[in-house]
Amino acid sequence: MKKGQFVVIEGLEGAGKTTAVATVKDWLVAQGHTVVQTREPGGTALAEQIRTLVKAVQQEQMAPETELLLMYAARVQLLSQVIRPALERGDWVLGDRHDLSSRAYQGGGRQLDEALINKIRSAVLGDTRPDFTIYLDIDPALGLARAKARGELDRIELEQLAFFQRTRAKYLQIAQQEPNISVIDASQPLVQVQQAIRRALTEHFK
Ligand code: TMP
Repeated sequence: MKKGQFVVIEGLEGAGKTTAVATVKDWLVAQGHTVVQTREPGGTALAEQIRTLVKAVQQEQMAPETELLLMYAARVQLLSQVIRPALERGDWVLGDRHDLSSRAYQGGGRQLDEALINKIRSAVLGDTRPDFTIYLDIDPALGLARAKARGELDRIELEQLAFFQRTRAKYLQIAQQEPNISVIDASQPLVQVQQAIRRALTEHFK
């Protein structure tokens, strides 16, 4: 039985997820929770190999469906090895990305059929869902400029701006339609982003 809570940080490249994860972690630890951090794709030895595979720039083009299935393969592995056991122990899980990324990137960016994605989701995710998601919203042009400044771009980061615009639109659409997703403007100065994150957590878990 699930005793802990599952919190997820989402956003485009360059939105500031890493800093946000640290802010959320500090807040959760201050509340007395034991926090298990994850990232997707990845977070187990096998899932990290899938991460390497999906990020690598290769000569052979990866079919969008292959990409989708690899994301879910990595996710199922992480769910079974790390997320579910942690929640059952009563730990809190803090995820750098989860299912919403696939819905936004593969559904929005790659324009894969939503019915296909939903079939896969319901077939493999079971009933484990995030309790709260923070989506850091950023204009992709700004986010990609930040990502570029960090170094070399991976296979997905090399996509055209329009890909990220569709991904952002899908994030915003889902955030508007579904409960338990808080949208934070990630173009604000860092201190304000951090304040907004703490406010959202306090409101949700008060
Ligand atoms: P990042 O989290 O370090 O930015 O790298 C993960 C990359 O993989 C990022 O470009 C988003 C992408 N991604 C998907 O396209 N679908 C997914 O389901 C997940 C988890 C990530």
